[in-house]
Amino acid sequence: MADASHEIRHIKPADLTTFIHSILVKNGVSTEHATIISSCLVQADLRGVDTHGSNRIPSYMKRIRQNVLSPTAIPTLTQQTPVVALVDGKNAFGFVSAHMGMARAIEMASVYGIGLVSIKHSNHFGMSAWLVQQALDAGMMSLVFTNSSPALPVWGGKSKLMGVSPIACGAPAGTAPPFILDMAPSIAARGKIYKALRRGEKIPTDWALDGEGNITDDPAKALEGVMLPMGGPKGSALAIMMDVFSGVLSGSAFAGEVTGPYDPSKAADVGHFLVAIKPDLFMGLEEFKGRMDYLYQRVVGSDKMGGVERIYYPGEIEQITRKKREVEGIPFTVAEIEALNGEAEMVGAERLRV
Ligand SMILES: NC(=O)c1ccc[n+]([C@@H]2O[C@H](COP(=O)([O-])OP(=O)(O)OC[C@H]3O[C@@H](n4cnc5c(N)ncnc54)[C@H](O)[C@@H]3O)[C@@H](O)[C@H]2O)c1
Repeated sequence: MADASHEIRHIKPADLTTFIHSILVKNGVSTEHATIISSCLVQADLRGVDTHGSNRIPSYMKRIRQNVLSPTAIPTLTQQTPVVALVDGKNAFGFVSAHMGMARAIEMASVYGIGLVSIKHSNHFGMSAWLVQQALDAGMMSLVFTNSSPALPVWGGKSKLMGVSPIACGAPAGTAPPFILDMAPSIAARGKIYKALRRGEKIPTDWALDGEGNITDDPAKALEGVMLPMGGPKGSALAIMMDVFSGVLSGSAFAGEVTGPYDPSKAADVGHFLVAIKPDLFMGLEEFKGRMDYLYQRVVGSDKMGGVERIYYPGEIEQITRKKREVEGIPFTVAEIEALNGEAEMVGAERLRV
């Protein structure tokens, strides 16, 4: 008989946002910060990046209860040069520090053409693409880097050292969709293993090794082992690059010393690196956008290999998912909804009704 806890229910994005907002506020987060965090999480859910959306709430709230993530901290910003700023996250939510950093990067870029913000003492900020979208909403190109806790061996190594730290960037276009690359340097993001575990699913055997260094399709065993880097030494090098720019440069933890989301012993001390760039630095904006539209047409109009029905642009599949989910709602399993409702009950917030 089918397990009812794996049945899917669709939740309206507005209802989900209100629900997540209220859990956050009941956990001591200000309404201003709760608005930022709930919006970022629901954006991930809408784009189909379910691994980095609202389902992360139980693990974030647990960190608040363990006193290793501050719900009330207010990050500070120091202007280093006209185009460079440093944010000290003060152990606030990564969403809050990164949102503040990107807002400042955009302000600097609109005056000087470029704005660079380094962020230290921060936390996990979920899906990088919400920061790319923040820049796109202001008409800006962007680079979004972060480091993260050890999950991936360096090439030739066998134990976790680097994070599965995503590299993201974006650029606006005219009538074509914007360019949005957001990718972890592993074959799959670690969150996809947690999602498979929650949903009782198996994982492909090229994603991870178990604790003994053997291939596995069992998500629980994979979580005891290591993620496999994409492209061998190249994926490993990209993970190190994220650590150089986000960890070493900012003054945050690095070299395998970022604390994991499920380790209650101390604050995560994640670092981020954000750049906003004005797209009309070297030509008029319309010309730039026309060139982006042309690039899009060339990419998606490329000759297709056998068996391929359609070529997609980076970020396009997520945009299609977003449009669909805005209408149909966001799919959650009954077990995922119950886990979220458990968090609501713990703090006296209203349950999500389905
Ligand atoms: N904050 C953190 O510490 C952290 C760590 C790991 C991952 N993440 C997040 O996890 C998410 C998932 O990462 P991922 O690497 O599994 O993403 P993914 O493999 O699903 O996608 C990677 C990129 O490839 C593009 N893409 C995918 N399929 C495509 C296709 N058929 N044609 C053209 N382009 C395609 C996507 O648009 C995306 O830009 C990201 O949002 C990332 O930011 C966050």
